[in-house]
Amino acid sequence: DAPASIDALIAKMTVEEKAGQLNLMAAAWAGGVATALNPPSSGSNSFEGQLADSVAGKLTGVFNGNGAEMARRMQTAVMRESRLKIPLIFAADVIHGHRTIFPVPVAEAASFEPDLAQRTARIAAIEAAAAGIDWTFFPMVDVARDQRWGRTMEGAGEDVRLGELFAAARVKGFQGRDLTANDAMMACVKHFAAYGAAEGGLDYNTVDVSERTLREVYLPPYKAGFDAGALSAMASFNEISGVPAHGNPWLLETLLRGEWGFKGFVVGDYTGDEEMIAHGFAKDSRDATRIAFLAGVDMSMQSNNYFLHLPGLVRDGLVPMDRLDRSVRRVLAVKHKLGLFDDPFRRIDAKREKARSRTKAHLAVSREAGRKSIVMLKNEGNLLPLARSGQKIAIIGPFAEGKHDLNGPWVVYGDNAQAVDLAEGVRAVAGAGNVTVALGSKVEEPLDGGIEAAVAAANAADIVLLAIGEAENMSGEAQSRTEIVVPAPQQALAEAIAKTGKPVVVVLKNGRGLALEGAVKDAPAILVTWFLGSESGHAIADVLFGAYSPSGRLPLSFPHESGQQPYYYDHKATGRPAPDLKQTYRARYRSAMNTALYPFGHGLTYGTIEYSGLNLPATMSANGTLTVSATVANTGQRAAEEVVQLYIRDRVGSVTRPVRELKAFRKVALAPGGRETVTFTLRRQDLEFIGLDLKPTVEPGTFDVWIAPSAQAEGVHGTFELTA
Ligand code: IFM
Repeated sequence: DAPASIDALIAKMTVEEKAGQLNLMAAAWAGGVATALNPPSSGSNSFEGQLADSVAGKLTGVFNGNGAEMARRMQTAVMRESRLKIPLIFAADVIHGHRTIFPVPVAEAASFEPDLAQRTARIAAIEAAAAGIDWTFFPMVDVARDQRWGRTMEGAGEDVRLGELFAAARVKGFQGRDLTANDAMMACVKHFAAYGAAEGGLDYNTVDVSERTLREVYLPPYKAGFDAGALSAMASFNEISGVPAHGNPWLLETLLRGEWGFKGFVVGDYTGDEEMIAHGFAKDSRDATRIAFLAGVDMSMQSNNYFLHLPGLVRDGLVPMDRLDRSVRRVLAVKHKLGLFDDPFRRIDAKREKARSRTKAHLAVSREAGRKSIVMLKNEGNLLPLARSGQKIAIIGPFAEGKHDLNGPWVVYGDNAQAVDLAEGVRAVAGAGNVTVALGSKVEEPLDGGIEAAVAAANAADIVLLAIGEAENMSGEAQSRTEIVVPAPQQALAEAIAKTGKPVVVVLKNGRGLALEGAVKDAPAILVTWFLGSESGHAIADVLFGAYSPSGRLPLSFPHESGQQPYYYDHKATGRPAPDLKQTYRARYRSAMNTALYPFGHGLTYGTIEYSGLNLPATMSANGTLTVSATVANTGQRAAEEVVQLYIRDRVGSVTRPVRELKAFRKVALAPGGRETVTFTLRRQDLEFIGLDLKPTVEPGTFDVWIAPSAQAEGVHGTFELTA
């Protein structure tokens, strides 16, 4: 649906200019131009060289650049001096905020509030667009069922339905209502496809999934992102069942465009086309270019390959000119939709960039998102919330204080130095005189004398906040771990602190689900606080001191042991389900049940929530709907927000079904003594699965329904019959 003017423009373009429109490079200031794999042929590893390349029509745009001034210089040069005056597009990894940093995406998913994610994405777009950025490489919607994978932190966790809802919300937040608006950015659904299914949780590793699992588990969140209007997709680094995603016409053409009707363009991931040589799928760079381009990667990122090889491939008849034109048309149509042809400078505004960055209102939303992302795993004896005064608090651990590890991975423009650390947040409530800090340990190494000093601090206090876990460089891209535990020196610190007998609240920093052990697992209270961004310390203090009753729920399972990975709640039953550890020849490990220590959906509040009164009709017809309800009551003394979750199980199918699947959830606010009847409507598509013919189907039979506080909780349970 490109306007005629775009075809007229394409008619004027040389084959080199066409290839240039499909060539995206990291902005030179980011140091990203030359790669070990494929050094660029031009002088574009300096800003001046890249400017010259842009004017010469060798680049469609750059990514991860340096703000409005850089963008203005480049765009001005192109609009004044280039032959065809095709505006550049500026892209960036705006993942969880731009200057105001929000919780890492998996943390935000713990809010179980897609609307919140839409709001934070909107703010990220408002800040980033003013810096001249037209396009974000987000959302990452890869379902992550193996917590060893470092990029778990960048998605919405392990669940399909949660993944769909957050994917759509994030796309809508970035793109806004009008893509031409100066505060709207194009979203990019990534990484297409099944990047999160890497074998062993090893980043970039082989993916081998059946088409059924692909369609049932991994693909729906991408589809939800495209249905929400995302106009770009990023191919993933992995192969799928022997074919790299960058060279996979079934994925990029048959499915994405043919079946799903995608109308935007596909960008490769950073040198992903070139990497098909290492995969053993392409002979050389030219071959890799041909394969990627013909498979459906419209634009290459960072290899420079499309610019170097597409013109020759067209001349040699190996790539048809109309295919080249088709991809160029897609890219130019998107530039048109972003309003760049009307006003190439519409987003570039240094004054607006400053005025819109880190405003009070944006920081307030960051704090709201922060506290809503926190999950309280445990709170024995109602240790939390803490009294606001009258107690001596020792904050112990490598994350107790300091301007590091607050924002989390994948922050290009935010600054840890501007974020609020835990000690600041706690002091602001409890008063500086009541708070001592002892680091106790480094993140992955012992600290000389650290444990002794920490034990002394604990002994002198009434309560300990143990701020331990993962540093931000332990998750994110290429940060897979073999053991998903608290690093040994910090575990030793936790054991020593436990011996003091002081009450301990574990304040866990993490980018993934962890297998908690020893004194960490046994601490009376545990908060999962991820990486919460700009307002980290204040958000945690809001929960610690009860200004906010925790409402976050795990978007991923915390297993008993690392060795259970990949573990996810919606697994199949096997022929030998294990009722307990005693029975042998059952699907359990020698030392642990194959369940979660803290399951998907789990999270406590400061209230006491009870479930009752399931109202479930006995039957539903396959083309009808079913309305089911239950009552949740807060019998505790404090207000709470409960995430009421609806799970189903299809008991018998022509294809086996998971032991539980989340189909819907609702967050309800309950005052002390309050109660509410929560109603859900199930439709046919909620009961569908991918049948033997690889098409969605439903089968009559018995379905379990749970309305429950987690994937492992009983809540209230009943069954209904699906009739034909
Ligand atoms: O957007 C990212 C992608 O997620 C991983 N490779 C690099 C890209 C651009 O920075």
